[in-house]
Amino acid sequence: MIPYRPEPFTNFADEQNMKAINKALEKVSAELGRDYPLVIGGEEIMTEDKIVSINPSAKHEVIGRVAAADQALADKAMNAAWETFKTWSRVPAEERAGYLFKAAAILRRRKHEFSAWLMLEAGKSRAEADADTAEAIDFMEYYGRQMIELQDRGRQTLVHLPGEDNHLDYIPLGVGFIIPPWNFALAIVVGMTTSAIVTGNTVILKPASQTPVIAYKFYELLVEAGLPAGVVNFLPGRPEVIGDYLVDHPKTRFISFTGSRAVGLRIHERSSKVKPGQIWMKRLVAEMGGKDAIIVDKDADLELAAQNIVASAFGFSGQKCSACSRAIVHEDVYETVLNRVVEITKGLKVGDVRDASNYTGPVIDEKAFNKVMEYVEIGKQEGRLVLGGKPAGDEGYFIEPTIFADVAPNARIMQEEIFGPFVAFTKVRDFDHALEVANNTEYGLTGSVFTRNREHMARARAEFHVGNLYINRKCTGAIVGVHPFGGFNMSGTDSKAGGPDYLLQFTQPKLISEVL
Ligand code: NAD
Ligand code: ALA
Repeated sequence: MIPYRPEPFTNFADEQNMKAINKALEKVSAELGRDYPLVIGGEEIMTEDKIVSINPSAKHEVIGRVAAADQALADKAMNAAWETFKTWSRVPAEERAGYLFKAAAILRRRKHEFSAWLMLEAGKSRAEADADTAEAIDFMEYYGRQMIELQDRGRQTLVHLPGEDNHLDYIPLGVGFIIPPWNFALAIVVGMTTSAIVTGNTVILKPASQTPVIAYKFYELLVEAGLPAGVVNFLPGRPEVIGDYLVDHPKTRFISFTGSRAVGLRIHERSSKVKPGQIWMKRLVAEMGGKDAIIVDKDADLELAAQNIVASAFGFSGQKCSACSRAIVHEDVYETVLNRVVEITKGLKVGDVRDASNYTGPVIDEKAFNKVMEYVEIGKQEGRLVLGGKPAGDEGYFIEPTIFADVAPNARIMQEEIFGPFVAFTKVRDFDHALEVANNTEYGLTGSVFTRNREHMARARAEFHVGNLYINRKCTGAIVGVHPFGGFNMSGTDSKAGGPDYLLQFTQPKLISEVL
């Protein structure tokens, strides 16, 4: 088999590529406003109640209306998933992986079309949408190969005892409840779903309510790849109606969640309570928020640091769990770095992502918009507003890239996840102080250090307590198989998505020993 290689990003400076994505945008634009069903065991079901998905760049534009499940449909999905588990769990690993490879090939062929959906439904720029689609392809290519390797590992790694045949089978768990966020509306949905099914589980996929159409498009793609009905049950629904219900359900075997700290902790608590009739401890994989920092040392390449603070803070309007929301800068270079970051950021245009000259798109919805604007007011009490802090037009949920300076390490804007185009600067005395401030949150997802000092690099490796530590590069943009992704403390269970151990979490090893 060809070894895994990450999908290259599209160069939109090439006119042909720009034409191709614009054509895809036209195609997708002509498909807006349709109704989509939920799908249980292959049966498409329309409901009265619909989740309405809108374009965050143009609030009046409806992307689609998606059927919303009630609890009876959630039960129906649970039964269908368990019924399918009987057969799917026996399908050989190579065959299961084959569906992922086929789906990856189709997605590669229709790459720009999926990216266009991401631009319209999630408000991603062309480059951000393309990276999301590439990551989705990578997850399928990578997890397919990982599953085949995992099966071989179980047969080959045990110590040989004469007279016995011993092997370890990584068998699936059962039915999983897959709960993704909206911010990697394709990549994370694909990664969470396909990791669970390639290991032999069946799933109920409840997409985020902001981006259910792109999730439906992925479901359609799995059907096109020939995946048997009932392996993935597509179940959009309101969290308050089916979220807690399926988390609590005694037949839920595992939950794979990516989202906020608050919802992750709620699921952690509820899923640990054993319900009548439940015969297992539910397994929970929960990847949560971040309050990620970039440290700039006094001898760093300051231009490189400034460019990367901007890219990490304002790419996709800062709506990445990995986004830089704290810049921790040595006092000797503080003003230089701050001024340069402000200068670069002034050059970023804000607006509808269909216009390729706009770098910063909208935040996802009204709730996110209000939350960021509230933090602007909090920031004014806690620091010096040096740029932005205002809405940028009312067609969509646009906010100017916002920079606060001279913020104390314990300020709320240095502690709480804001999830918008918002970064706070703080000044530190020396590298010890920088590390102390960087580690001073309850999160521990990503972090970067810009320095030329080898001793400081070594100290960061040992002492900067984050799941993904980057040296002299941005703190966003992990690549599947290259930078396994996940965080410490309140950032979650550090499952390392896109890493060599990820699939283990959806299996239970069974030892089989036969006397010869
Ligand atoms: P969210 O927690 O609001 O929602 C995540 C998912 O949980 C959605 O599908 C939502 O519908 C569902 N949900 C909400 N309440 C539920 C309940 N009671 N029971 C079951 N499901 C429920 O998060 P979001 O706004 O969609 O995403 C942004 C958050 O995700 C940020 O905090 C970000 O840092 C985090 N995130 C983390 C990672 C990571 O890998 N660590 C990656 C992407 C996003
Ligand atoms: N995996 C995404 C990144 O690294 C969140 O930016």
